Amino acid sequence: MMRQIAPGALLSPVPAVLVSCGTMEKPNLLTVAWAGTVCTRPPMVSISIRPERFSYPLIRESGEFVLNLPPARLVRAVDLCGVRSGRDGDKFALSGLHPAEAAGVGVPGVAECPVRFGCKVRQVIPLGSHDLFLAEIVSIEAEERLFDEKGRLCLEKMGLLAYAHGEYFSLGEKAGSFGFSVRKKPLPPRKAAPRPGSRRKRPIQKGSRKP
Ligand SMILES: Cc1cc2nc3c(=O)[nH]c(=O)nc-3n(C[C@H](O)[C@H](O)[C@H](O)COP(=O)(O)O)c2cc1C
Repeated sequence: MMRQIAPGALLSPVPAVLVSCGTMEKPNLLTVAWAGTVCTRPPMVSISIRPERFSYPLIRESGEFVLNLPPARLVRAVDLCGVRSGRDGDKFALSGLHPAEAAGVGVPGVAECPVRFGCKVRQVIPLGSHDLFLAEIVSIEAEERLFDEKGRLCLEKMGLLAYAHGEYFSLGEKAGSFGFSVRKKPLPPRKAAPRPGSRRKRPIQKGSRKP
């Protein structure tokens, strides 16, 4: 039996990211959970921000921000940056985080975050409580230790943080990978060739067996 509840912003899990803005001299950051990927080419993300946030005019006027992926071990700082305003003081100092130069943009990133996207705002769409910022990712920086020997970025090495219905979670076990449901299983080792004169069995077609 299903229970119907009031419509709301319940989509879960979502990332909880640190969005940094301002300048190296006067940096600010806020926690954003209404963030997502919206386009592959050009690579674009969205963040939704309430106009009353201290960060709002900083991002709107500079047209830039850095989207920092925090590891789960920074969850306390992530929460703090989401419940204190830069209006009341230096949130970097308060949370023990440090601003760092970011590639491709003039706003600082968060030094303690191992993956950082430099973003340039392309559109702002007022929606209601929040304004949607659509931004192009102009740079991605990731810590060297996150790459394997083939040069693949292994995000699982950083301990990603997720947010679901008011609670933070560190990402758990891998449950599959893109396209694995249709990928062919490796063939079993080949048997020895049949002896001359022996009858060949018809191979069973994959997927042809009825349940
Ligand atoms: C987990 C979490 C997620 C949040 N997500 C958003 C969000 O998506 N958009 C938003 O405007 N505020 C969000 N907030 C609230 C802001 O981060 C918070 O109001 C912050 O203090 C704003 O900082 P500022 O005034 O320095 O800009 C979130 C807070 C938390 C704790």
